[in-house]
Amino acid sequence: MMEPSLTQFGTQMSNLTGVRAIMKDIIETLRLGQGQEFINLSAGNPVILPEVEQLWRDCTAQLLASPDYGEVVCRYGSSQGYQPLIDAIAKDFNQRYGLSLTERNILITPGSQSIYFYGANAFGGYTQAGELKQIVLPLSPDYTGYGGVSLTPEALIAYKPSLEIDEAAHRYKYRPDFSQLKISQDTGCVIFSRPCNPTGNVLSDNEVRKIAELAAPNHVPVFIDSAYAPPFPALNFTDMTPIFGDNIIHCLSLSKAGLPGERIGVAIGDPDRIEILQSFQTNLCIHSSRYGQAISAQAINSGALAEISVNVIRPYYQHKFTVLETALNQFMPKDLPWFLHRGEGAIFAWLWFKDLPINDWDLYQQLKQVGVIVVPGNTFFPGLRDTWEHQHQCIRISLTASDRELETAMQRLVKVTQQVYQQAVVEV
Ligand SMILES: Cc1ncc(COP(=O)(O)O)c(C=O)c1O
Repeated sequence: MMEPSLTQFGTQMSNLTGVRAIMKDIIETLRLGQGQEFINLSAGNPVILPEVEQLWRDCTAQLLASPDYGEVVCRYGSSQGYQPLIDAIAKDFNQRYGLSLTERNILITPGSQSIYFYGANAFGGYTQAGELKQIVLPLSPDYTGYGGVSLTPEALIAYKPSLEIDEAAHRYKYRPDFSQLKISQDTGCVIFSRPCNPTGNVLSDNEVRKIAELAAPNHVPVFIDSAYAPPFPALNFTDMTPIFGDNIIHCLSLSKAGLPGERIGVAIGDPDRIEILQSFQTNLCIHSSRYGQAISAQAINSGALAEISVNVIRPYYQHKFTVLETALNQFMPKDLPWFLHRGEGAIFAWLWFKDLPINDWDLYQQLKQVGVIVVPGNTFFPGLRDTWEHQHQCIRISLTASDRELETAMQRLVKVTQQVYQQAVVEV
């Protein structure tokens, strides 16, 4: 077959970046491993929780019965979003956080991933004068999806964090390294997730304010990816306050609140920047699904979404993290240099094996041999230019499996890592 001839952008966009490349391998493994049972801890898909599914079913029934149905699904709408959803978000956030948002501060997008695509390309890349504006990720590792959003890959730059290590407890936490982090007139935008996929890290309120302050003098927009943040899905296990500000674009997603299939994202920011993102969207896809927007508006207006987030979604994943943590504490030898990232939120656990004698890809392969699938950590450092051994010493474990599966998988992980470290000693 003849290779299609592609443009620079065509080549860039047809690359399978980060975790998507791994997913291909995982799908192959599951397909070819007939008969072999795998415990799949690689999923990024949230678990379908019965109360959450019921909420969306109820909202759908209401919509079907309402006279708005035809208006919602049989017509195009405004590119900015379905008005009742824009109003619901403004009202909810104004009440909850004492803001004074108007509709001009809000854009509804088809999933939040699209916000990063618009933002990365509207603010990062080459200016008309030919200067390169960087897309800064202030703390690496971070969401693998940022790796593919820029049409100008050389614009993406990530910074190594500082590590706060509790040796005795086998725990650690990443902190932004403010002695290195550079946000200047060469910066087009800043992006980070809070809580973070893959690590479960939650940047402190002060750290976020400090990043926003560094960006303020040059009016650099700071996209705070709040896909796991309160008020929905409220997947924070530690206290955190969403931070708003002139140059902050607060980005929500309804995906982890049970609606990934409907593609609903929300950008909240100053009207000028919201307008730019909106034009991008008009050119790209006109608008997000209005059915998804209409049921979201209901679930937010009734308060049910925030309520289910705190009472159902958060405890579900927090419990899973405890199961995993307990199993590791029980089975992992004290003398192995394993470190679990503090579980402050999101739906993943992140493990670091210091001085691991093999790399994360080989560890992933060895775990597959014992029927456990995780995600090698190396895929979560998009934009990092330095070589850093730490990058090849981590794995991401999804908290979407059953308690039993998580426990069994941790026992197998313990065996494999013990052997890996021991073999290295023998070989020396
Ligand atoms: C941190 C983070 N940001 C963004 C996304 C994309 O979400 P959406 O479904 O809203 O496009 C994900 C999805 O897993 C994520 O983990």
